[in-house]
Amino acid sequence: MSRFKDGAHTDVLVIGGGIIGLGLAWRTAQRGLRVTVVDPAHGGGAAQVAAGMLAPVTELQYGEEPLLRLGIASNTRYADFCAELTELTGLDTGYRATGTLAVALDADDKAELSELHAFHQRLGLDSQWLTGREARRLEPMLAPGIRAGLHVADDHQVDGRRLSTALVRACELAGVGLLRAEAVELLVEGDRARGVRLGTGTGVPPVEGWGTLTADQLVLAAGSRSHLLPGLPADLIPAIRPVKGQILRLRIPQPYAPFLSRNVRAVVRGGHLYMVPRADGELVIGATSEEQGYDTTVTAGGVYELLRDAHELVPGITELPLVETSAGLRPGSPDNAPLLGPTALPGLAVATGHYRNGVLLTPVTADLLAEYLATGAVPALATPFSPSRFRVLETSS
Ligand code: GLY
Repeated sequence: MSRFKDGAHTDVLVIGGGIIGLGLAWRTAQRGLRVTVVDPAHGGGAAQVAAGMLAPVTELQYGEEPLLRLGIASNTRYADFCAELTELTGLDTGYRATGTLAVALDADDKAELSELHAFHQRLGLDSQWLTGREARRLEPMLAPGIRAGLHVADDHQVDGRRLSTALVRACELAGVGLLRAEAVELLVEGDRARGVRLGTGTGVPPVEGWGTLTADQLVLAAGSRSHLLPGLPADLIPAIRPVKGQILRLRIPQPYAPFLSRNVRAVVRGGHLYMVPRADGELVIGATSEEQGYDTTVTAGGVYELLRDAHELVPGITELPLVETSAGLRPGSPDNAPLLGPTALPGLAVATGHYRNGVLLTPVTADLLAEYLATGAVPALATPFSPSRFRVLETSS
């Protein structure tokens, strides 16, 4: 820690050490730049809660085709991204090419699933329509009443916790400075972002020589708190809204016969329910979607709804031990798409607002930001996600 002296300077300073910040720090260090990531707890954040479903096709929403392209670009990179992490660190990321089965529980769900299938076909996406019987043949634990299914062979999964640990280690090995402190103010000099003032943060021990840290380029990657950094010019980025997700972790006792072989999801009473079975026997069930500020309380109602809906889908889950309940905050932008690249303030880029897709979009965000930071050019894939798209809307209205 002693190398972080007050007034220290680096090439790139990343504010936020969740998987988005760590991923782009790692890739940027691989391009030969000196990188520091400031966070009170590197590897924390929403990825510690997320189920880790990599589902650009089954989570597709109407009108979000640019996001679909970004999601597919990231999904396509995932296997290599994880293989490289494992080769470098010796750590498993829990990446599993399982595919995903979306199912319909009643006639309304079936109509909605059929619309999604038609949308996939119009976009040339690979998804296969199944009868209820065919869906149950793939996943025998599904409820007998399942009406139909949609099999998407390329929507996979990763373990967000293992991924976070591997990214912390990869950053260390690549020489990224992981500074355990809180950025309490953005320092702007003239017309340019110059650095941050550091605080110790709650529960963070004082760092010898902490005070300020300056950099040629800064990246704000602080999830749902990104817009709250003191010193950030007003209206530079829009407010990022926290969208709470409660999630359950069950354990399939070992030795176990496969309980589910792939991700299973459904729309139940308008909410998205999914189950992600991991290779180590963990079964993750998510997630609620609640907009009520920065609250991460796990509620009886949230747990009840998840268990009720999951039980309708896979009745056998009630036999499994419930080992953990948790809640995290998805960082939602006004259009639910991420903000990637330079802002109107020279020296400051952002990588935030990933909403439901933070885990999925980690590899592509890392590559796009590293490319921008190393070359100064914004890659074409990132241009629809420019942070200034909101400023254009505001000034033209
Ligand atoms: N991508 C799943 C969720 O946000 O709940």
